[in-house]
Amino acid sequence: MQIPVARPAIGQDEISAVTAVLESGMLASGERVAEFERNFADYCGSTHAVAINNGTAALHAALLAADIGQGDEVIVPSFTFFATASAVSMTGAKPVFVDVHERTFNIDPAQVENAVTPRTKAVIGVHLFGQPFDVTGVEQVCESHNLTLIEDAAQAQGAISHGERAGAMGHMGCFSFYATKNMTTGEGGMVTTSDKAFNERLRLLINHGQSEKYLHTRIGYNYRLTDVAAAIGLVQLKKLEKFNMRRRKNAEYFDSHISVKGLLTPEVTQGTHHVYHQYVVRLTDEFPMKRADFIEYLKAKGIGTAVHYPIPLHHQPVYARADEPDSCPVSTSLAGSVLSIPVHPLLDQKELAYICDTINRVK
Ligand SMILES: Cc1ncc(COP(=O)(O)O)c(C=O)c1O
Repeated sequence: MQIPVARPAIGQDEISAVTAVLESGMLASGERVAEFERNFADYCGSTHAVAINNGTAALHAALLAADIGQGDEVIVPSFTFFATASAVSMTGAKPVFVDVHERTFNIDPAQVENAVTPRTKAVIGVHLFGQPFDVTGVEQVCESHNLTLIEDAAQAQGAISHGERAGAMGHMGCFSFYATKNMTTGEGGMVTTSDKAFNERLRLLINHGQSEKYLHTRIGYNYRLTDVAAAIGLVQLKKLEKFNMRRRKNAEYFDSHISVKGLLTPEVTQGTHHVYHQYVVRLTDEFPMKRADFIEYLKAKGIGTAVHYPIPLHHQPVYARADEPDSCPVSTSLAGSVLSIPVHPLLDQKELAYICDTINRVK
């Protein structure tokens, strides 16, 4: 049996939608993009959605829309994908790394409060692996210091916290539709917001700062999404609830069937609807194998895995400062002990049982 850790679910509907765009002759940003933006905003419960060509560009544009640049600080978790922080650096601002909760892997509001300085302008909270971070806690810090709250929802299309969808919780929500995400357009992204001014600035930023054809009122980028990608996104958005339900059922099965000493299954925060972009287990000292050996063992049995993420951002060569003590020890410890196992919607019952059985045989 060969089970990849991730697999995009693309069917005939997506192929037909792309063919229709190709036959229409309109390959750039047109009606499909506008429709995708409307449908995505409706789905998230935000007033606006701005389609963009990837999740990194979404974060970059959101930060610029919030007027963040040189001399500013933006608080980000250390345990996340690199783009959460690199987008901050791309504006000229400084990412300030804070630690995460050991069991939810998500940003810790108390650490955010401690990291605020007079230069702090914004916080990026990441709904890591599909589980919403403590939005209420982080929001309180942001309100008391007048900071912009940006959600990095790249991994959390459809996630809910206390009745609100990812993308509608902060001032802006940034999504990625990379091939392995819960819904995909190949490469692609979206910024959601209910703020009129942010929406207007985002639209300028993603299209050369162009307020009218060939009239440029600020420096902007070409971050536009194509109609080809939007056509895939429209179909995928319709299937998202079904995909997420399958991911949640797969996760539920793992929760109740995986049982090995020293292996911790993911903890779900009360009041949240986790959409399991990844199912991430953690190996403690009691686990009978080293992580590298466990990965090899599963690989030999045909089960793909991945480490998300092996190096916390405060230790990445581009950000690390050798003279500092470890400022985010939980992130460091997680980077050395987590492992993502397949949870994607295309897994069947036989594969789920095989994965659990193979893991449970570890002694
Ligand atoms: C948490 C997080 N932020 C940002 C990104 C960047 O998205 P993209 O790869 O579409 O640029 C990703 C996706 O890879 C991600 O997982």
